[in-house]
Amino acid sequence: MISKISEVNYYIKTNKFKKIAIIAGKKSFGKINGKKIIKEIIHNTKTDDVKYFFKTNNFPEIKELKRLISFFENFQPNLILAIGGGSVIDYAKIANIKDIGNNLVKKIHGKLHIGKKKIAKMIAIPTTAGSGAEVTSGAVIYINKIKYSIDNRIIIPDKFFLLPKIIMKNKKNLKASSGFDAISQSIESIISVKSNNTSLLFARKSLNISLKNYLSFLKNPNFYNSSNMSIAAMLAGKAINISKTTAPHAVSYPFTSHFNISHGHAVSLTLEKFLKFNYENQKKSITNFNLDKRYKILFKIFGVKNINELNFKIKDLKYQANLIDNFKQLKIDINRHYPKILNEINVKRLKNNPIELNKSDIKFILLNNYSDE
Ligand SMILES: [Fe+2]
Repeated sequence: MISKISEVNYYIKTNKFKKIAIIAGKKSFGKINGKKIIKEIIHNTKTDDVKYFFKTNNFPEIKELKRLISFFENFQPNLILAIGGGSVIDYAKIANIKDIGNNLVKKIHGKLHIGKKKIAKMIAIPTTAGSGAEVTSGAVIYINKIKYSIDNRIIIPDKFFLLPKIIMKNKKNLKASSGFDAISQSIESIISVKSNNTSLLFARKSLNISLKNYLSFLKNPNFYNSSNMSIAAMLAGKAINISKTTAPHAVSYPFTSHFNISHGHAVSLTLEKFLKFNYENQKKSITNFNLDKRYKILFKIFGVKNINELNFKIKDLKYQANLIDNFKQLKIDINRHYPKILNEINVKRLKNNPIELNKSDIKFILLNNYSDE
């Protein structure tokens, strides 16, 4: 599952790609010494034209996506290589759909079908261990700060390479946030309405690996824990590709778009609160599986006996990873902003939550967080 740069080079050599479009994050590409990596990747290949597109926005939004779509239209690449975090990979996945630029907004809103053809083959090289975007059929895009997503099998990258040496170099706060995304995606997947035996297998495996490696990856990153976190993130991606995510994800997006809180951190804000809410209301479960059994799986993986111990462990993980979940400390006036947040919540994701939620439940969860600390 773990690759070397030489394997990317071999893939490009054997497929004889002539024109390669590279999509990367402006800041992160410099930090990982991206130019050197690309040089190695295209060394001795038939490639004679390489063009770069750098994203600058902190989360994927439509204006930048439109620029990427025109970039692809002008360049007509044979290969799209996305080397970056979830946003970079998501941008490339969407822009790679043929003719997506015609009626783009209607297509994102799901009012028009997207085509079944792609512009080029796509390789994803994640530079963070988190989103699992390299294996998922979903891609996030914000329009006017509201989160939408395109979900279609055709956008799954044709190939992905996990290169732990790149991931190791990330700053601690980026590793903390993206790693927590992987953890949360697996946890949410295990109790999601849409989960099945296959997603459960991926999610359990992912969580077993991430919990053993997350904190050491933050504190003493090495090849071993970085490899494991890359694998855990990819497996979590495979899990949510089937099960989708639940309430903590649905509620997270406005925190990213309005308050610039990175995705994994935003998800961590409410994770254990929703876990408790779901657990305490399990008599009202809308799942076709036994929710209590799923919680027992979570307890076992975390090595705890009950919901309070589980939440304590999650709280402690956040504390050690320096992921602040107190709105006051984050300078978010939740009493003022909660109506806007409630308004923008992604209803689709809420439907995957094992317990039906209404806006007053979410309000309670958000405000309780504010007052109890
Ligand atoms: Fe996520």
